[in-house]
Amino acid sequence: MSSFLHQRQQQQLLANPYPISPRSSSNNQRQISLFSRTGLLILLSLMVVLGVFFPWMGMPEGLFSSRGGSLSKWRDYSLAQAVSFVAKNGTVIVCAVSQPYLPFLNNWLISISRHKHQEKVLVIAEDYATLYKVNQKWPGHAVLIPPAPDAQTAHKFGSQGFFNFTSRRPRHLLHILELGYNVMYNDVDMVWLADPFPYLQGYHDVYFTDDMAAVKPVNHSHDLPAPGKKGRTYICSCMIFMRPTVGAKLVMKKWIEELQVQPWSKRTKSNDQPAFNWALNKTAGQVDLYLLPQAAFPSGGLYFKNETWVQETKGMHVIIHNNYITGFEKKIKRFHDFGLWLVDDHALESPLGRL
Ligand SMILES: *[C@@H]1O[C@H](CO)[C@@H](O)[C@H](O)[C@H]1NC(C)=O
Ligand SMILES: *[C@@H]1O[C@H](CO)[C@@H](O)[C@H](O)[C@H]1NC(C)=O
Ligand SMILES: *[C@@H]1O[C@H](CO)[C@@H](O)[C@H](O)[C@H]1NC(C)=O
Ligand SMILES: *[C@@H]1O[C@H](CO)[C@@H](O)[C@H](O)[C@H]1NC(C)=O
Ligand SMILES: *[C@@H]1O[C@H](CO)[C@@H](O)[C@H](O)[C@H]1NC(C)=O
Repeated sequence: MSSFLHQRQQQQLLANPYPISPRSSSNNQRQISLFSRTGLLILLSLMVVLGVFFPWMGMPEGLFSSRGGSLSKWRDYSLAQAVSFVAKNGTVIVCAVSQPYLPFLNNWLISISRHKHQEKVLVIAEDYATLYKVNQKWPGHAVLIPPAPDAQTAHKFGSQGFFNFTSRRPRHLLHILELGYNVMYNDVDMVWLADPFPYLQGYHDVYFTDDMAAVKPVNHSHDLPAPGKKGRTYICSCMIFMRPTVGAKLVMKKWIEELQVQPWSKRTKSNDQPAFNWALNKTAGQVDLYLLPQAAFPSGGLYFKNETWVQETKGMHVIIHNNYITGFEKKIKRFHDFGLWLVDDHALESPLGRL
């Protein structure tokens, strides 16, 4: 079974940075209707209304440029400033998001808000549109670490641009550790069903989850699992918690190194996960690693595909990862089918509100 092929497939979605959503198609209809008679009528009434109220509106242009001005200050907002602003109890929760992923970001944020950890969330924006959008609605909770990846080359899964984009992640995480904070990283195609923090027991350096779909005994070991068919483990780079220890920093440095010594090639078309697994393999003797329980942190290949297992482990699930599926719309539909697509009915629970 080539389970690796199914891993981190959410990334393939980036192949289509502007997915056709129901919202964008209705926008198109609206544009077309501008040319119809009703459209013209609406336009005409709009001009009349503007003509009547314009004098009392002050200077709308000034309004817009001052808003643009206050947004552009976020260009200079540094990671150190951002982390010190959002961290609570020395802990920050980070994700990395580009514009097409905003609906997933919001879905994830709603689920985090339900467990009262949203104030610790820092969004690492991968483009300026995301930086401004998040900080406009939720000031201080997004940061962009320059240079912004080129949107044209960064989104195609398996491309070198995409590899470059995900390679930034261990650098950001290392920087946060060096600033002295605990950090939890999550992909945003996740939903929290319960508070994960009580599961981060003991004082280990790095906590992570297994991306395999095979069922483990409920009392499985918390050690790094044995390597799989490719000679390495299948630990997910989607959910990582680290303490600002020498050991955790060593793993991040090794991850960066592994990404450099096994660079992207046309043949392998790799993402960042194999390098993370090699980093764990090579530092295992020096670092205190902790595998989180599968029943609490199952891969999408298990949670969405094995109903028997889901029943058996009912009440034990903490974070659900919507991976082992390809396509933006399919992913949304699956969340929908399992009652985990929260943005349509519960947007107001998100600190970003409706996007
Ligand atoms: C910070 O830690 C204390 C003690 O562990 C806890 O009671 C409190 O809820 C935490 N605050 C936040 C915002 O997580
Ligand atoms: C990716 O990074 C490499 C090394 O830094 C660079 O040479 C290359 O131009 C980048 N490619 C893309 C598409 O961003
Ligand atoms: C899990 O439980 C089984 C049966 O009770 C036991 O044989 C096994 O050693 C346990 N495994 C671990 C890792 O504790
Ligand atoms: C690291 O990988 C090698 C090659 O697959 C394997 O022999 C070794 O047991 C692994 N080490 C650990 C600590 O998992
Ligand atoms: C599904 O889960 C059940 C119960 O844990 C397990 O016995 C079975 O092997 C799993 N099926 C697959 C295909 O992994």
